[in-house]
Order: sequence, then C-alpha cells, then structure tokens
Amino acid sequence: MKTRITEMFGIERPIMQGGMHYVGFAELAAAVSNAGGIGTITALTQPTPEALAKEIAKAKEMTDKPLAVNLTFLPSVNQPDYPGYIKSIIDGGIKVVETAGNNPAKWLPGLKEAGIKVIHKCTAVRHALKAEAIGCDAVSVDGFECGGHPGEDDVPNMILLPRAADELKIPFLASGGMADARSLVAALAMGADGMNMGTRFIATKEAPVHENVKQAILNASELDTRLVMRPLRNTERVLTNAGVEKLLAKEKALGSAITFADIAEEVAGIYPRIMLNGEMEIGAWSCGMVAGLIHDIPTCQDLLDRIMLESTQIIRGRLEAMLGA
Ligand SMILES: Cc1cc2nc3c(=O)[nH]c(=O)nc-3n(C[C@H](O)[C@H](O)[C@H](O)COP(=O)(O)O)c2cc1C
Repeated sequence: MKTRITEMFGIERPIMQGGMHYVGFAELAAAVSNAGGIGTITALTQPTPEALAKEIAKAKEMTDKPLAVNLTFLPSVNQPDYPGYIKSIIDGGIKVVETAGNNPAKWLPGLKEAGIKVIHKCTAVRHALKAEAIGCDAVSVDGFECGGHPGEDDVPNMILLPRAADELKIPFLASGGMADARSLVAALAMGADGMNMGTRFIATKEAPVHENVKQAILNASELDTRLVMRPLRNTERVLTNAGVEKLLAKEKALGSAITFADIAEEVAGIYPRIMLNGEMEIGAWSCGMVAGLIHDIPTCQDLLDRIMLESTQIIRGRLEAMLGA
C-alpha cells in the first residue's frame, strides 16, 4: 500500500509501532520493521545515551529496514540528557524520530540537519497545527481512547481524525484504538495516511515483555482501562489492577489537594516491575481501550500480513460491493 507516510518513511505498509516505555526495545522495533511497517525504540527506557546507541546497533543487526526512535520530552525537573540521546540517534543512522510530550521545536534543527523525518505525537488539532508550523514532517494524532497520555480534551478519534484532516497539510497517522484492518481502513477513510499502534503490539510474540502482560491484555475488555492522574493534569489511560484502584481511591479522597508524592507508590518505578517481572497488580501502566479488540498473540509479520490482506478484502469486497455495479 502506498500513502504519503509510506513514501516519507520508505516503508511498505502504513503502520507504525509507537514508542512504549519498557516495551520499545530492539526486538520489537526490528520485528515491526521487518514486517514492512516501522518499529520504534523508546529512547528514555535506555538509562544513558550510550545504552541507546547499543540498542540502536542491536536493532540494526536484526533488520536493514527503516527504524524509528521515540523521544518523549517530559516536563521533569531533572531533564534527561536530550542532546546525548539525539547524538546517539543521529550517529546510529536513524532516519525517523517520533517526538512526544512537550513542544520539540528546540530539537528540530539538529534532527532535520541530519536528514531525520520528525513525526510528533499530538492529542489535539491545535497541537498538530503547531507541530506543522514549527516544521514537523508528520504527526500522530492520538484520540481519547489511546493507551498512554490522551491529554485533557477527551476527543475520540471519530471526531479528532476528520478534524485533523480538515486542518492539516502534513500527513498524519491515526493513533489510539487501532488494532486491525477495520481500524486501518477507517483511519484512511477519515483522512489519515496510516495508523500508529501501541497496545496491539505488546500482545505479539516479539514484544520482549513478561507473558503476564500479554495475558492481561488478552483478558481485558474495552471496559477495563482507567484514567489516572487527571487531578494533576497529566492524565494517563492504564489497565486497571489493585494498585490502580488504590491510586484512584486516593485521588477521590484527596481531591484537588493531591500531589505526585501521594501516588508515587503506584506510579513511580512501576514499568520495569510490570514489563520485566510481570507483577500485574502493583500500579499504573499504559494500556488502551483497544485491549477489547485483542484476542491473540501473533508474530508481527502475521499481524501485519493479516491487516493488509483484510484491508484489501474490506476495500475491494465489502466497500466496493456496496457501491453496486
Ligand atoms: C505500555 C505503553 C507505554 C507507552 N510509552 C510511551 C512513551 O514512553 N512515549 C510515548 O510517546 N508514547 C508512549 N505510549 C503511547 C504509544 O506510543 C501510542 O501512542 C498509544 O499506545 C496508541 O494507543 P493504543 O494503545 O490504543 O494503540 C505508550 C503506550 C503504551 C501502551
């Protein structure tokens, strides 16, 4: 399939694996790229720029297809070594960077000079327009249903994607709630040039996470995610568990007086314990409502083959048939 995104990234299929903390390692990124999409290594999961350089080198041994790196710009006091991470990305020969979080304007000139395409993840049309204005090559538009940080506007993709299509000139990926061929065809119909998936890619054979995490996604329905940290205006969609329910009880009890310290037990340092150890009840880890559409653990190749085959069937079979002779 050819879209503005496949052309821009030099890939065969308009499907991206979004950056995921403690999931986006070399194994998954390379498997997605080998399957014709584009896989993403998550920079900040690596403790240092040197570790990121090694992870990129490892992925490049596993695939000769294009790879992306996610750089999430956090509003934290102790800033990660962003110049160091960017140097590792450039030196590693990466040609696509997914930025997320704060405005990436400060870092764009260096990335663009190195010939890197920048796709910024946005949860609002106004942010997508800002990304376009500062020179991003593309955006990922993340609807309210997404796993991770959906922002504070709560606009689902049935509205957000056509709104983005009406306003943007640069290409965009539909992100949040995407799982299968129906998602892809719908995203294309609403004006996107492809789709970005997070949660769906965790339940794949190559995702290097504990089996408990994959099973938790399979067991979950679309009713099993919760929004946490809303009172801190840092909303995250997570899979419910005992730790998350405890966190929500604290949010209810403390109201607007809540601080990060009150919930640190359920949010700080949780990712490695979930993703590596499979301690599923301890606290908040991102997961999308799309869990309700995930019922198997295929290889990335089988997943992408199926999506592309069924997309063709939907377009050539179901949709064309509706138009009649
Ligand atoms: C476990 C997990 C961790 C994530 N970590 C990050 C991250 O570190 N940086 C980022 O920009 N997005 C992160 N995301 C968001 C994804 O890149 C993607 O935008 C989102 O998962 C799309 O929604 P979906 O889960 O419904 O497919 C994460 C998502 C999940 C599920």
